[in-house]
Amino acid sequence: MIEALCGSLRAGSMNRALLSEVSRIVPSTACRFGHVSIAELPLYDADLDTPDADALPQSVQEFRARIGAADGLLMAVAEYNRGPSGVLKNAIDWASRPVGRSALADKPIALVGVSMGPAGTGRAQLQLRQNLLSTASRVVEAPVVTLGFGAKLFDARGRLVDAEARESISRLVQALLRLIDSTNAAKGGAAPDPAPPAAASDAAG
Ligand SMILES: Cc1cc2nc3c(=O)[nH]c(=O)nc-3n(C[C@H](O)[C@H](O)[C@H](O)COP(=O)(O)O)c2cc1C
Repeated sequence: MIEALCGSLRAGSMNRALLSEVSRIVPSTACRFGHVSIAELPLYDADLDTPDADALPQSVQEFRARIGAADGLLMAVAEYNRGPSGVLKNAIDWASRPVGRSALADKPIALVGVSMGPAGTGRAQLQLRQNLLSTASRVVEAPVVTLGFGAKLFDARGRLVDAEARESISRLVQALLRLIDSTNAAKGGAAPDPAPPAAASDAAG
């Protein structure tokens, strides 16, 4: 299972629309996608943090469990003021706790992002890569998928219609699947589960 995290909370988010499109771009025989919400997480507060993971806030426990069980993560990085959104950074901070029990250690992660302007979230993704060095996650190095002028990439129904963007996302997910395979091989584990024929992914979060 690959869990998708959307760095934007707004209902009309282009990043969420992009993540919804991924399971249509990548064949369901290749992997299954879930959508884990970060909206319910409290703001990180060290007073809520505890060495006992079972005593963390309930929403944090549930989030950490989903992240921990995932074969890999696909993060859609909304760019605010040339950095990743606060809500996404907050989610990463919670996932990394409690100390020594990070759900992100060795986790294969791919970054993607779409923004209104020309930058296409490249600066935010770069900052996030730096943050993820601290969590010892395995981040896909290439391709780097930064999608600028996002309004032109979607149709009125929010479907990603830009062929180049769809191809870039396909190549990114293939790279993530290879990284998951090599990570599992290093651990002596199995390849990620392909979707069972009638399985539906979770509702977009
Ligand atoms: C506070 C704030 C700061 C922003 N800063 C940037 C920025 O630095 N670079 C950029 O390309 N877009 C920036 N934007 C525009 C976002 O890319 C745009 O709102 C985008 O639609 C957010 O992603 P979403 O559609 O998934 O919500 C900013 C938006 C907000 C609200």
